[in-house]
Amino acid sequence: MCGIVGYVGPNDTVDVLINGLRRLEYRGYDSAGIAVVDEAGDLTVRKRSGKLARLEELLSESPVGEGHTGIGHTRWATHGGPTDANAHPHLGDNGKLALIHNGIVENFAELRAELEAAGVTLESETDTEVVAGILGREFARLGDLEAAFRAVVPRLHGTFTLLATHRDEPGKIVAARHHSPLVVGLGDGENFLGSDVAAFVSFTRRAVAVNEDNIAIITPDGVRVTDFAGAPVEYREFEVEWDAEAADKGGWSSFMAKEINEQPEAVANTVRGRIEGDHVVIPELEALGDDVLRGIDRIIIIACGTASYAGQVGAYAIEQWARIPVEVQLSHEFRYRDPVLSDRTMVISVSQSGETMDTLMAVKYAIERGVKTVSVCNTQSATIPRESDAAVYTHAGPEVAVASTKAFIAQITALYLIGLHLGRVRETLAPEDSAAAVAQFETLPEKVREAVETHDQIAQLAHWMADTRSVLFLGRHVGYPIALEGALKLKEIAYIHAEGFAAGELKHGPIALIDHGQPVFVLVPSPRTAPLMHSKIVSNIQEIRARGARVIAVVEKGDTSVLPYADDVIRLPLADALFEPLLQVVPLQWFALELSTAKGLDVDQPRNLAKSVTVE
Ligand code: F6R
Repeated sequence: MCGIVGYVGPNDTVDVLINGLRRLEYRGYDSAGIAVVDEAGDLTVRKRSGKLARLEELLSESPVGEGHTGIGHTRWATHGGPTDANAHPHLGDNGKLALIHNGIVENFAELRAELEAAGVTLESETDTEVVAGILGREFARLGDLEAAFRAVVPRLHGTFTLLATHRDEPGKIVAARHHSPLVVGLGDGENFLGSDVAAFVSFTRRAVAVNEDNIAIITPDGVRVTDFAGAPVEYREFEVEWDAEAADKGGWSSFMAKEINEQPEAVANTVRGRIEGDHVVIPELEALGDDVLRGIDRIIIIACGTASYAGQVGAYAIEQWARIPVEVQLSHEFRYRDPVLSDRTMVISVSQSGETMDTLMAVKYAIERGVKTVSVCNTQSATIPRESDAAVYTHAGPEVAVASTKAFIAQITALYLIGLHLGRVRETLAPEDSAAAVAQFETLPEKVREAVETHDQIAQLAHWMADTRSVLFLGRHVGYPIALEGALKLKEIAYIHAEGFAAGELKHGPIALIDHGQPVFVLVPSPRTAPLMHSKIVSNIQEIRARGARVIAVVEKGDTSVLPYADDVIRLPLADALFEPLLQVVPLQWFALELSTAKGLDVDQPRNLAKSVTVE
C-alpha cells in the first residue's frame, strides 16, 4: 500500500526514481509523484493523479533539472481522493521540504488544527501534508532534518514510513518507520530507500531492513540508522535473492500470466532443500526444538484473502499428518475475539508480502500472549517473518500482479511441508505416508506445468463466457477453499460477481441461485483416492444440472463419470486428493485472467486494490 523510493547518488535521479516507482506500482496506483533537489539547489515536485504513465507524460512536458537527491511515491489513497492535490510528495517549510508517506496518521486532525492556528495554509486533504507542515516548522526551528524528524515522529499516532528531503541539505534523505515497511539499498557512492527491495533491485542487491521505530539517514557515502531518540543502531546487510529480471514482465502480456506460468518453479523452489530421503525436514522449524513442536496442542493459522484460503487448504493436511487441531482465522478478526491461547498454541501466519498490517498486528498479539509464532512468507526480511519465532519462506520469487497466484501455490506447499515435518517429529505420520507425500512433491512441478497448459482451453471458454455476470464455484474438503479462491480471483480482476461454496452446503440455501444457464465450476475430487467425496460431488452436479446450471467440471484425467452432466470438462493430471488443489486452482486463475482481458481490464492492477495492504 503506497510505494516509496528514495535516491542519493551521481546518477540521473529522475530515471532512478521512475524505475523504482515502476517496480513499486503494484503497491498502489491512484497517483504518482517525485521531488528532486537539483544542482541549482532548487526543490522541484512533479505529481499527478492516475497511474505512473501519467506522471511520465507530465515529466516529458515539464522536465525536472538534473539532480542527485530525490524521493518518489506511488499512492493508494487513504485520506482524500486520488487527485493531483492529494498526490505525494507534499511540501513543508515554504516549499523547501518534500515528504512522502506510507500509512495513516490517526491524529492528523489535531495536528492540522495546530498548523492552521499558526497560519499555515494546506492544499490537500491528506494527513501527509499535515506532517510535512509540522516537519517543516521543526526544520525551521532546529535547522537540521534529522533533528526535525526526532522532534516530530514521537508526536505521530498511527502507522507510517516517512521519507523527506530538504533543499538546504542536498545529498541527504531522512526516513522513519513505525508499523510500515522500509528498506535501504546499499550502493557504491549511492544509496537508496524503498518500501521493498523492488524499489532498487535494478541497481543493487545489497539491502538492509530497517527495524521498527528507527530512523535511517542516507547520503551518497553512507547510511546511518538510529532509534527515535537518536541513539545509533547497528544494522545487518542481506543479499536480495532475486534479480531485477525476475521482477520484469519479460515477454508476457501481464505479470499475472507470467506468474501463473512460474508456478511449477514456485513449488519446486519451495520444496528444495527440505526433503531428506522419505522425510521432510525444515531447518527453520528444527531450530524451534522438537520438544516445543511435540508440546503443541493447537494451531491457529492467520491470514487474509488468498493467503487465508491457502491456510484453509493447509489446515486439512496438517491435521491429517500431525494430528493437531488446526483452525484458520482471518487476521483482522483474530484479536478482536479475545482468542483462547496458551503456551501450547502455535500461530502460523501466512503472508506473501510479510507486511499485511492485519496479519502483523495479529502476530504481535499472539507474541504478547506467549504463543509460538511461525511465519510462512514470500518476502525476504519482511516484518512478519522477522517478528516471528520461525520463518518458513516460500520461494516463489517476486509476485508483482496484485492478484496472487504463484505465492498461493507456494503457501500451500509450505504448509504441507510444515504438516509433514510436524507429523514426523510428533510420530503421528506413518513412514509410508511420509514417503507417499514426498513422492507427490517430486512429481508435482511437472503436473502443475500440465495444469498451466490448460490455458488455451480456458481462453476459449472465457471467450464464450465473456458476457457472464455471475459465476459459482463448488468444492468439497480441500476443494472448498479452491472454490473460494476461484471466486475471489474472478471478483478482483474481472469485477464479476462470483461465489464459492462447499458443495454440501448447496441444498441448505445457495441452490436457489441456480437458474437456466448459471455457470458453475465444480472441482471434482479424484475417484481413485477420494471415492466417497467423488460420488457425493457427482450427485451435486446432477442436482444443479437438473436445475439448468451450465456445469464446468474440473476432473482428473480419465474420470468419465461426469461426462453426461457437464457442459465443459477440464482435465488435470492425476494426484492424490490432498495434492489436487495445487492443480485445480490453475485453470481458475486462467479463467479470471482471460475474462478480465476479454473485458479490456488491467489484469495486473485491478481497481481499488493494492498488493500489499499495510493499513488496517
Ligand atoms: C488476492 C490477494 C489478497 C492477498 C491478501 C493477503 O489475490 O492477493 O487477497 O492474499 O491481501 O496478502 P499477503 O499474502 O501479502 O498477506
